[in-house]
Amino acid sequence: MTKKFNFPPGPYGLPVIANLPAILSSNPTEYFTKCSHKFGDIYNLRFGQRRVCILSSTDLVREVFNSKNAQDRVTNVAYYKVFGKNAHGVAFSSKDPWKDSRRFILGLFRDLGVGRGVFESKVTSEAELVKKLAEGINRKEVDLKQKFFWAVGNITCGIVFGKQYDYNDPTLKQFINFVDVFPKVSGPGALVLTSPFLCALPFGPGYKAAVIHETLRISNVAPLGIPHVTDKDIKLSGFDIPKGTTIAANMTAILMNDKIFKNPDKVNPDRFIKNGVFEESSHVIPFSTGTRVCIGEKLARMELLIFLAHLLFRYSFKPPKDVTMPRILDGVEYAVARCPMPYSVVKSERYA
Ligand code: HEM
Repeated sequence: MTKKFNFPPGPYGLPVIANLPAILSSNPTEYFTKCSHKFGDIYNLRFGQRRVCILSSTDLVREVFNSKNAQDRVTNVAYYKVFGKNAHGVAFSSKDPWKDSRRFILGLFRDLGVGRGVFESKVTSEAELVKKLAEGINRKEVDLKQKFFWAVGNITCGIVFGKQYDYNDPTLKQFINFVDVFPKVSGPGALVLTSPFLCALPFGPGYKAAVIHETLRISNVAPLGIPHVTDKDIKLSGFDIPKGTTIAANMTAILMNDKIFKNPDKVNPDRFIKNGVFEESSHVIPFSTGTRVCIGEKLARMELLIFLAHLLFRYSFKPPKDVTMPRILDGVEYAVARCPMPYSVVKSERYA
């Protein structure tokens, strides 16, 4: 007798190509979120032969991203086209090559003190530089996004090449041009830092943690994280998930869930302040969770804190006169990361 599988529900698909046209014809993030409203926190899509399971609840994402049989990555033609046939970097490899490179990088970060006090000076010196650049452009429009890309890129250079560069140095220019194509490589910290909502920030002691938490929530840097793949048949929420299924966390459905976050498309750091004290939400998981959780989380958080503190201590930022700022929700999507639409701001000295 053949085994009867109990697959998660999902939208009807055309023969052979299955749900592919729906994804190609619309904004995929929007399509995934619409499906979660219709089919629930776990549903199935099919792209040709490939089964894709989309999870829209924090608990399910935690359960499966911690399970030992859902830690592989997708390898297909599109992947090889982008990253090359021999690409075995930590983010896109599986099994022993992944374990080895993850262990190596984490060891390197530990030795360099990334995310800890000793590393702070590297981030701070870069923040000082951005402040200096901003100083020269009084009451003119500043393209903060570009400045943050350079600064965060230079910090990454410090880790990768052991050296931070002068902003006129061609090596840094080359590195930034490269990461401009691949925001994932530069570390999406740059993407969050460039958020236009800097202009709307209130500033006060004890408030920074809530501001950073809200920035990370609403920026939704990696709307589908980096998908995992199962290497065995597993059970999840009573459903059968066969070996070789791609599993993606629908971060948009989680971070913008109106049952958890009231008016989720509004910037509101106060939602994380309870009785005057910052309270973290277990649903704000932009760095994902579990065995493959983002390696750069500590660095990204340190960059956010130091850059925000440096710039906002001295300046306030406003949209230029008669200019409508792009909505945070309308980010540009690259391979796995979202980046804000182009924008400029006008800065003024807080204590002038
Ligand atoms: C706001 C900033 C960032 C966000 C929101 C973010 C988000 C993510 C997410 C969602 C994943 C997928 C985790 C999974 O597979 O479940 C990831 C993985 C990863 N991130 Fe980040 N990231 C950020 C910054 C950085 C930075 C600064 C670096 C580098 C220094 C970095 C390096 C990586 C690497 C190497 C992986 C792959 C880990 C693995 O597969 O084992 N990220 N990140």
